[in-house]
Amino acid sequence: MSVDELRPNQGFSKHFLWGAATAAHQVEGGTHNQWTVWELENAKVRAAQAQYHYNDYASWERIKVAAKDPDNYVSGNLADHYNRYEEDFALLKQMNMNAFRFSVEWSRIEPSEGVWDVAAIKHYRQYVESLKKKGIEPVMTLFHFSLPIWFTDKGGFEHRRNVAYFTRFAEKIVRELGTNVRLIITINEPEVYATESYYHQNWPPALRSKYKWWRVVNNMAHAHRQAAKAIHSLNRRYKVSIAKNSNFFYPGDDAWVSRLSTAIMQYAQDDYFLKKVARQCDFLGVNYYFSNRVYGYRIHNPDQRMSDVQWDMHPADIQYVLERLDRKYKLPIIITENGLADAEDTHRQWWLKETIVGMQKAMRHGVELQGYLHWSLMDNFEWAEGKWPRFGLASVDYNTGQRSLRPSARWFGRVLKKIRGV
Ligand code: BGC
Repeated sequence: MSVDELRPNQGFSKHFLWGAATAAHQVEGGTHNQWTVWELENAKVRAAQAQYHYNDYASWERIKVAAKDPDNYVSGNLADHYNRYEEDFALLKQMNMNAFRFSVEWSRIEPSEGVWDVAAIKHYRQYVESLKKKGIEPVMTLFHFSLPIWFTDKGGFEHRRNVAYFTRFAEKIVRELGTNVRLIITINEPEVYATESYYHQNWPPALRSKYKWWRVVNNMAHAHRQAAKAIHSLNRRYKVSIAKNSNFFYPGDDAWVSRLSTAIMQYAQDDYFLKKVARQCDFLGVNYYFSNRVYGYRIHNPDQRMSDVQWDMHPADIQYVLERLDRKYKLPIIITENGLADAEDTHRQWWLKETIVGMQKAMRHGVELQGYLHWSLMDNFEWAEGKWPRFGLASVDYNTGQRSLRPSARWFGRVLKKIRGV
């Protein structure tokens, strides 16, 4: 579909935020946090188990060499975004974007308890100044899955008393960066973090405890509320939210049991957490990746069009996610993540087009949508999967550090040029 056929300029205001997202540990390189330790301890095992984890993926033949290599599971220097961020901001400009979501790495800013690293703070100050100078709105995340080791040694979010450390960090970095940052995400995908780390045993500390899962989820809700309060008391004009994972559930048939369990699953995923924090959110950050089809009590997906990480792709369903959250919470929404692993760039343009149309429909139905941030600006470290999944609008060659926009990203840039009239 051509840019003109898409009618991209319908519905999007000139203030709409168009951009891409990243997270510190996934792009910066050279971090030292609870993940760094975990990767080194587990790389060999993950590589040895690759066949078991991924051999039923449609992408297996293409990914197997990388997936069996222990180096895939160690973040190391990655694309060295920490030092080469100017190159990456240039990619945003090349795509005619006006927003960028990133996270600040707590373990750099407070490497030991109560000790602030002046150089790291200065780094992030320059980083956001550079974005502002380029006319790019920064969207800053405070916790995107990586934590200082001293904090996890104390039990991290397992204990309510530890929340105070997070609040202190939030207040410190927001104060230091001043009003250059206006949009702040306190916590990224709280239940994904809790489930992978405290139930599925895929992420550090790799525990399996329903009780700890529950404690961590509730403490993160408390952490959001406390951090939002602290940030607002610095300046009421800060706009604070979480980035909520929200996939879409739909019944596979008309049976009452399928419809009922669909509603329960959607509620458990979205509303259990959101109800605890919505009053302390100025907008809603939403991460949408896939939909789940429910038959009876189970999820059974059609598996028709799969991304490289074997997720069923239903980009147009973003409309329903937006409409539901709008109805329930009546807050402005920013899509803080949305995208796909697609190394060969076969589906990304289609995905973007479907997503744009889905957003337009939602806005026509009254949703106050203020921004779209694609995951991700560039290929990055996909947590337990490591480096083989390629989510980037820009591809990265990890040997040379070379970044290049994929064809779909160039297309997206042309669409944005038209929408934004730049
Ligand atoms: C996370 C990102 C991750 C992406 C793709 C989200 O769950 O916030 O860190 O890379 O999904 O899996």
